[in-house]
Amino acid sequence: MTSALDPELRRALVDRIRFYHELGIYDLYRRGPGPSGEGALIAEATADGLSIAPPSSAATRSELREEMAARKSPVVSNTAEDSIVEMVSSKPEYEVADPAVALKLIREDLGDCTRCKLHQQGRKQIVFGVGNPQAELMFVGEGPGADEDAQGEPFVGRAGQLLNNMIKAMGLRREDVYIANIVKCRPPGNRQPERDECETCSPFLMRQIAAIKPKVIVALGATAAKNLLAINAPMSELRGRWYDFRPAGVRSRDLSWPGARLAVTYHPAFLLRDPRQKGEAWKDLQMVMKYLGIEPPKKPVD
Ligand code: URA
Repeated sequence: MTSALDPELRRALVDRIRFYHELGIYDLYRRGPGPSGEGALIAEATADGLSIAPPSSAATRSELREEMAARKSPVVSNTAEDSIVEMVSSKPEYEVADPAVALKLIREDLGDCTRCKLHQQGRKQIVFGVGNPQAELMFVGEGPGADEDAQGEPFVGRAGQLLNNMIKAMGLRREDVYIANIVKCRPPGNRQPERDECETCSPFLMRQIAAIKPKVIVALGATAAKNLLAINAPMSELRGRWYDFRPAGVRSRDLSWPGARLAVTYHPAFLLRDPRQKGEAWKDLQMVMKYLGIEPPKKPVD
């Protein structure tokens, strides 16, 4: 399972795969064990007739090993490698142009997910995501709470009411945007999702993003921001600027999609606890509105 892979190594592999994607290489396969027993993840590189270093290239393998060795001697299990390969291999939604159909295929692929331990920890149902499959604006929260778990829809509890107000204050309707979470199952007692849970769920969120191709993603709170951006920084540093975002490990069917811009703001649940920060959140949303060309309405978040 994914959890067997050291997160830093996983990140290194995802970076490498992203690099291949930037070169236009999407077909990857896992080489069988060599004489020394290791099985390296290698890109078979032919894109648009362009031939890149062959998979047997010693340079490619040693470069990858070097990158791995520089990190804290991770134990790479075959299953972990397999899950990376699975993450970047062709997906059913790559064949369809309609984002609504693509989302349906991703949902089907997710199935009655048992990939992480959250499925055994009291979740009632998977909370996949909701909204306009062609949304220009996407909000990503942390994970479902009790209300979301009961209703199967993200942000339907008190925090959801505030998010609705924030969306309305922007001059939009909830149906105009797409809303999802870092994890799709409720963590018990509303605890923060753990790293392995986020990493296991993340490929599905990445596929949703690649299918929707939003112009802007707003990360709601530190958990969403840190997971999407793979940076560990306080909210004070994360907010107030734009990030370029491309979903890791997947490609969009629309090769002309340049990726999204990502902004970070406070989680609505935090704003319920500390309403004085609503003005700051409103500044973040105004930055988003300006970029999307949305006329700022008179009244700020209430
Ligand atoms: N908090 C979240 O992060 N997501 C939800 O869906 C609800 C509350």
